[in-house]
Order: sequence, then C-alpha cells, then structure tokens
Amino acid sequence: MEEVIKIEGGHRLKGTVRISGSKNATVALIPACVLGNKPITMYGIPNISDVESLIVLLRELGVSVEKQGEDTLYIDPSNMKNIPMVSAAVQKLRASYYFMGALLGKYGHAEIKMPGGCYLGPRPIDLHLKGFEALGATIEYENGCYILDAKELKGTNIFLDISSVGATINIMMAAVYAKGRTIIENAAREPEIIDIATLLNKMGAKIRGMGTSTIQIDGVEELSKGCIHDIIPDRIEAATYVLMAAAMADDMTIENIIPTHLEAILMKLDQIGINMDVGSDFVRVYKSEGPLKPTEILTKPYPGFATDVQQPFTVLLTQCNGVSTVTETIYRERFKHCDELKRMGADIDVHMPSAFIQGKTKLYGAKVTATDLRCGAGLVVAGLMADGVTEIHDIYHIERGYDNLDGKLKALGAKMWREKV
Ligand code: EPU
Repeated sequence: MEEVIKIEGGHRLKGTVRISGSKNATVALIPACVLGNKPITMYGIPNISDVESLIVLLRELGVSVEKQGEDTLYIDPSNMKNIPMVSAAVQKLRASYYFMGALLGKYGHAEIKMPGGCYLGPRPIDLHLKGFEALGATIEYENGCYILDAKELKGTNIFLDISSVGATINIMMAAVYAKGRTIIENAAREPEIIDIATLLNKMGAKIRGMGTSTIQIDGVEELSKGCIHDIIPDRIEAATYVLMAAAMADDMTIENIIPTHLEAILMKLDQIGINMDVGSDFVRVYKSEGPLKPTEILTKPYPGFATDVQQPFTVLLTQCNGVSTVTETIYRERFKHCDELKRMGADIDVHMPSAFIQGKTKLYGAKVTATDLRCGAGLVVAGLMADGVTEIHDIYHIERGYDNLDGKLKALGAKMWREKV
C-alpha cells in the first residue's frame, strides 16, 4: 500500500501562510553543529523527513539531540564519536555529504557512504573532493564508501570551476580547523551559505566574505562556543506558495520571508502580469487581471533565477498566453516534471536543456508521480489548478522538503487529502 496525496482542483486560496525555516540551510546547519563541542539551540527547524534522517545520523554519531517544541532542536555534540557513516539514513538525502567536511575538519578522518537525494541528472561531487585534497586530505573510494584522511589540514587558495553550493559549504566546514588561511574563489553566493557561515562564526570560526564569491576562512584551534541560531526562511518554499497564490488566489499573503532572496522570481512574476505587493517580510498576491504574458526563464546560481523554482514555475507558464521557455544552466536534465504535466493536459516540448511551454492550456486531474522534490511541488500547484482530482504518487519526495504542506494548504482553502492505494 502506498500513501498518495489527492487534490480536488479549482478551489480558490485565501489567507496567510507562514514560511518555515530553510531546508537547504538546515541540512547543512545540522552537520555544522558537530564541528564544535558545545550545545547549539536552533530555531526554525522545518518538520521534514530530511531533518529526521539527519537526526538519525547525529544519534548514530553519539550526538545528543532533543526536539524542543515545534521547531526547535537542541544539539549537543560534546560526547560524539567519529564512527563510519554507513547506515541507510546516509542515502536518504544528499546533504549527508556535509558530514564529510565536518568530520574531516574536526577529526582529520571521515568515512561515509555515497549520499542519496533527488535525481536531477548527474550530480558529481568532484569539486568537494578536490577542495578537501587541496587542504591536504587523501581520499579513497571503497565499496561505495568515501574514506578521507588528513594528518593536518592546511589553508590554501581553492578556485571552484563551478560555483557549487555544496562544495562551498563542505570546503568551508573542513577549512574551519585548517592551519592558516583558506580562500575559496568563485564561491557560491546563495543565502544559505551566509547562514551556515554565521552559525560557524557564532561557534568560534573566523569566516569572512560569505555571500560574495570570495570566502576567507582563518583556521582556529577550537569551536568552543555554544549558541542559539535562528534559521533563515525557506526561499524555495516561499516561491512555491507565491506561485500557488499567483495561480489560485484572489488575495493571499506569504509571510516570514526575505523578499530580496526572491527578487529574480518576483521580477518574472511581475513580467507575466501577476499583481503583488512586496513588504519587508511578506508578499501579498492578488487575483491577476487580464491574460498572463509568456516569458523566458534561464536558471542561474544566486542571485539569478533558482533552478529549484523552475519546476513549479513551469506549471504557471501553462496558463500564459503564448510560448514560454525554460532553460536550465544548472541541471540540464531537470525536466521530468514536464512528462507528468503533459499527463494533465500541458503542452510542453522538452529539448534539453530547454522546455517550450505552449499556453494557455487547461489542466485536468490525473495520476502523476513526484519524480523528485520540486517536481512534486509543481504537481501540487498543478493539482490545485486542475479540473477534477489529481493523485500524486511517490510523495516521500515532497515530504523531504515541505513542512506541513497539507496543513498549510488546507488552511488556505485547498481541498486535499491522503489515501492509501
Ligand atoms: N557540480 C559539479 N561538481 C561538484 C558539485 C556540483 O559538477 O562537485 C555541478 C552540479 O552537477 C550542478 C552544479 O554544479 O550542475 C551546481 O550544483 P551545486 O553543487 O550548487 O548543487 P548542490 O549543492 O548539490 C544545492 C541544493 C539543490 C539546488 C542546488 C543548486 C541542497 C541540499 N541542495 O545542491 O536543491 O538545486 O544547490 O542551487 O542545498 C532542492 O532543494 O530541491 C535541491 C535539489
């Protein structure tokens, strides 16, 4: 028996939705906590299965973890042990690879299985490994497991061929204890990176330049400070609800956001004709008047248009009059959602790395599969808009990244439920 999400489309949304803490920050912040030896209290933890998997991993490492209230996690690494990370939980998410940088940095040794996560086409980790090697580590790969060793890590200059989010964070974590200065050039500038560096600095690290393409890390002997950290809001969850509002709301407010994190997306919505008010920490979306205009989207690293948003945005483009294009520069194969949307009546041609969306088409409820997390998010948007009932399979992908999706949507007036089929 499999649990599916069913959505009866056509119900207008209204009211206010509060955005949770950022998934992609949280999944790096949790591993970052083990770099120190004092307790960390983290507020804004999203209730998602990726966090559950990380808690399992922390406990396996002997880290004491306590959930306090709805969105608070207390993490105390003072009694942790560095054991090989080979359990099934490692392969439930991609971000388990942040333990590579954290354990290598702290102990000079890490043993960890190949990580899992969404399949978006090939997702190599060569830049992470090259960065560790540049810091002085040796790396072996045996029986599906990476073994990283270093007698001593030494600061150095590392130029990333691609400004990878994961490589930037992982190298930053390993470099926290490296002797001397590490400079990461062409570093990724995503807001999540600032959040992780901010936590590490509160713990006692010396990181500067986060949020720019040059990050400087001066190695320290110890991260000896406990602290409290408030996670930044999830800009991808926020964008998903803004898209739902653009498609289905007369008047809906998305709150607890940092609007500058969403600039590229809000600009595109404005271009196609969505009416919005942008406040200091909210966006209010109104029913759009007149037909929506088609547009061109090119995914780019931050501050460009986020690849994670192109999948749910594609759904809205089916409602624009004319041909829109989406071109992927991050994951050229990230178009599996298009096949699912076609089952619902969308008219989309995919010639990788682009999708051509002919609108405006009516969407109809159908049986579809969440092939990955943001495909799943797109199918929820489509289900809300469609005529009839949409049945979404493989919803574990959605549960990896969306906190209380059912509760939030029902409170906005959506008609959705779960069934075992
Ligand atoms: N890349 C390499 N070698 C590497 C690392 C990356 O070639 O060693 C390539 C990737 O294949 C990709 C590009 O560089 O083409 C960028 O990848 P990046 O490393 O930035 O991605 P990531 O760190 O694996 C994070 C998010 C993804 C998001 C991407 C891009 C987390 C846990 N994941 O992945 O989020 O799509 O950045 O912004 O932070 C999602 O939330 O649904 C999701 C997939």
